[in-house]
Amino acid sequence: MANSPAVLEASATPVIEEVPSFNVTLFVRRYNPEDGREPYWQDFDVTVHGTDRVLDALHKIKWELDGSLTFRRSCAHGVCGSDAMRINGRNRLACKTLIKDLNINEPIYVEPIKGLEVEKDLVVDMNPFYQAYRDVQPFLIASDKPAKERLQSPEDRARFDDTTKCILCAACTTSCPVFWTDGQYFGPAAIVNAHRFIFDSRDEAAEVRIDILNDKEGVWRCRTTFNCTEACPRGIQVTKAIMEVKQAILRGRR
Ligand code: SF4
Ligand code: FES
Repeated sequence: MANSPAVLEASATPVIEEVPSFNVTLFVRRYNPEDGREPYWQDFDVTVHGTDRVLDALHKIKWELDGSLTFRRSCAHGVCGSDAMRINGRNRLACKTLIKDLNINEPIYVEPIKGLEVEKDLVVDMNPFYQAYRDVQPFLIASDKPAKERLQSPEDRARFDDTTKCILCAACTTSCPVFWTDGQYFGPAAIVNAHRFIFDSRDEAAEVRIDILNDKEGVWRCRTTFNCTEACPRGIQVTKAIMEVKQAILRGRR
């Protein structure tokens, strides 16, 4: 039976619960290569809205308390991957971390991701990370020239669906203890992006990438600690992807 207009109106009214503002202390790891000081922690007290993320608190510090605070961000919505940082000892995107979900009765510690050289405050040198990405040839390699598109079955597409979601934030690679001690290791993110093409039925260069990752700094350095999977803000099964590349090296990609 159809609802009367009055009933429709009542059921369509959303219930919006206001999340109150609160005070929080952030300890931010500071470093300026030009002032001669060793890295140090600096604390900031800020009032944040109930819906604010760590990125909002960093903006508030930069815009209202200390304009010299340096960090990267672009989209502010979990898409560009530029604001990965260690928040309370865990790699996360600052724009996807709600402050209310942290323990706000304790200070919140924010520091740069580990294993890459710190350039200033929360900004690290991403060049070694991008070089490993480039080294695995993260693009389709195919010699055929079809008149239209290259066809692929839904099942073949599903084979690498998970690893298409990577936004190159480096949260996985810089949570990896092997990468911390051996910066030459390709790292999880490069392997994820190799996986995306190794298992693409349209690609012809799987063997090239497999050879690259069968190197002493390749997949065999992985110790299956699952830090990478836990750190990934896109929910990619990073450790599983690394395992599948190992299996492809041993048994072929199918
Ligand atoms: S696999 Fe996840 S954590 Fe690693 S770079 Fe890609 S999106 Fe970031
Ligand atoms: S600012 Fe783009 S992912 Fe956070």
